[in-house]
Formats: sequence, C-alpha cells, structure tokens
Amino acid sequence: MSAYIWNTFCPTLFGTGASKEVGDKARELGMHKVMVCTERALCEFGVATQVIDVLEEAGLEVFVFDQCVADAPSDICDEGAAYIRKYEIDGVVAVGGGSTLDTAKAVCIIISQNGTTIRDYYSIGEAEHEMKLITLCTTSGTGSEISQWAVIGDVITGAKEMPIYKPDMAIVDPVLTYSLPAGATASTGMDVLAHCVEALTNRNYNPYGYIFGKEGIKLTLRWLPTAVKEPENEKAREMMALAANLGGMAISACGCQIGHSFAQTFGAKNHIPHGLGCAWGLPGVLTYTAKYGERQNLEEVAEAMGIVSSEDMDTMKLAEILAGRVVELMEELEIKSIRESGYTLADCMSVADRFEHDGAFGNSPGEPGMKEIAEYIEYTYQVY
Ligand SMILES: [Fe+2]
Repeated sequence: MSAYIWNTFCPTLFGTGASKEVGDKARELGMHKVMVCTERALCEFGVATQVIDVLEEAGLEVFVFDQCVADAPSDICDEGAAYIRKYEIDGVVAVGGGSTLDTAKAVCIIISQNGTTIRDYYSIGEAEHEMKLITLCTTSGTGSEISQWAVIGDVITGAKEMPIYKPDMAIVDPVLTYSLPAGATASTGMDVLAHCVEALTNRNYNPYGYIFGKEGIKLTLRWLPTAVKEPENEKAREMMALAANLGGMAISACGCQIGHSFAQTFGAKNHIPHGLGCAWGLPGVLTYTAKYGERQNLEEVAEAMGIVSSEDMDTMKLAEILAGRVVELMEELEIKSIRESGYTLADCMSVADRFEHDGAFGNSPGEPGMKEIAEYIEYTYQVY
C-alpha cells in the first residue's frame, strides 16, 4: 500500500436535536447577517424554518435564499453569490440535501475569490476561505455536510464539476430527516452503501476507508429498511445519519469508483436522483472489483455484510453473492429496477464514453477502457 493522505474534517456537531444549537454556533463563528441557503420545499414543509427560527432567536439577521435545486446548477450558485453581495451577508448556513450543500459551497468559493461565477473556479484547490459556512443535512446520504467537494452541474456543458470548499462546521441532526419520504430515504440510503463499498474497493483504499466504510455498511444494512418503513423511528434515523457521516468520511479518504461514474453520467443525462443511480450502479462495482481489484477488499465488504467467505471460494462467486445482497436490499426497499424505470440497455450504453470524464472514474481498479466499461454496464443492466 502506498502512502495516503488523511484529510481531517470540519468540526461536526452530531445528535438528535443538534440543530437547536445552530444559532450559538453561527455566532461563535462570527456571523451576524446570515444567508440560509435552502430549497423552497424545505421552507414549505417547515424543515428549513426550524433552523431559521433558531438563528433569529439567537439574534442573527436572516436572509433566505431558497432557490437550490437538484444537481446544483452553476447558474443558481452564481445567483446565490449575487444575493450575498446584495445584502452584505457575512455567513452562510446551508440546509438541505447534497445539491443544496454543494450549492452553498460554490457560493462561498465565488465570494472568497471575489468573482461572479463558479464556472471560473472548477479546478480550484483549497484556496481563500473568506465566507464562514455551516452545513445541516436533511437527508442521510451524501456525506456532503463534512466533505470538501461541491458537485456542480454546469448549465452550459452539462458536465459535473467538483470544486473544493471545506465547511467550518457540520451539524447532523436526524430530526431534520424525519419528513423525508420513503423513496428518497431509500435512495439516499443506498448512496451511503455505495460510498462505503466503493471507498473500500477502489485503488485508493486505505485503513480509514476500511474503518469508516465497514461500519457504514453494517449500519446501513441494519437500519435503512427501518428508516424507510418507520420515518420517525428515532434510533433508525440517528443510525442512518451516522452511517451517512461515516460514508462521507470514507469517500473523503479514498474516493468512489465506477459505480459513481455510472450514477453521475447516466443520472446527469436522464435527471435521475443521485442515490438511485448509485443503487443501480452498485452490484456491478462488486463484480468489476472481482475482475480488476483486490480480493481482500471484497472479503472486507463480505465481513461487514455478515456474509461468510472461505479461502477456496472463487472471487467472482464471492462478488456475485455480495451483489445479490445489494439486489435483495433494493427489492426490500421497493426501489424500481433500471428496466422497470423504462430504460433499455442501449440507453445505459449511451453514456459509456462519458465515464472517463467523471471524477470518480480514475479511482476504479484496473485500467478500464471501453471494453471493461461496456461489460460493467451490461452486467449492471442485467442484474437489476
Ligand atoms: Fe454519492
């Protein structure tokens, strides 16, 4: 194993009811005039408003930017930055799913760079950090609340871009996920499983990926079905929030691999929710790893899934058993298959040439070319 970087994260306040402390935390970070960066639906359903109320009670002046939507379009990021300038805002509190938190990161990049559009800063590394940012996630999936990555959809090229901005604090309060519908709970939860499995099977795997990834897998298999069936089950929501946080740390340590390349290219073309694309892409990650990756990593996944493997078991056989467990979970969660959703094999194959432009693709084991990508897509389509 070669040397690896462990990138430490922002402070994380975790626990049921943690969002009640957002006002104090914002003040500690020196915020006075705050932009709450969120989604209109979260205001209508009273989720973002819980956070807004706490900020106002703490004496902060609050401005609500509720234009965030799926895929974090670059033009919305630019609008957010213009909004900050208009009201001379000095801090951002992001409340939402992954795309909303990513939009907030992009807004902070634009302001810190004294620019006008995120399109100028896609390849920026860790640079100026002028705008304080607190993230509160309303799904248990993305891990974006603690990660430095902002996945932005460029409205001109259609590509997914990944500039960097590390939040100053993440607040993970499972209460904010209670109103998430069953379908979204299921798909965002599958994103957690994909993060954990892809982190510990890709070419960058390291001990941090093992530790966080394996615990995330165990928690997701144990608690995701309950969170889907019983939305206000406190324990299930808390455990899935923890699993998502661990998954975020696993991918921050190791990255993802070919499954996310499928989710991000096929998803971008067909406007498929990220977690659903990740769910579909995950069984094939396991058989792909059997062909081109390390057997040891599949054994780590098996151990986390509670599946007994023996030394004399064929590697592909082991991968197929693991893939079968993922398929079984999707069926239990009543996630529609690719075919049931109306897509053909040709539809799936149509994004094969986009994989190499995806940020996760380079972490995939082996040296995947078009032949290997086509095999992966074919299996993915056939298996679910
Ligand atoms: Fe993901």
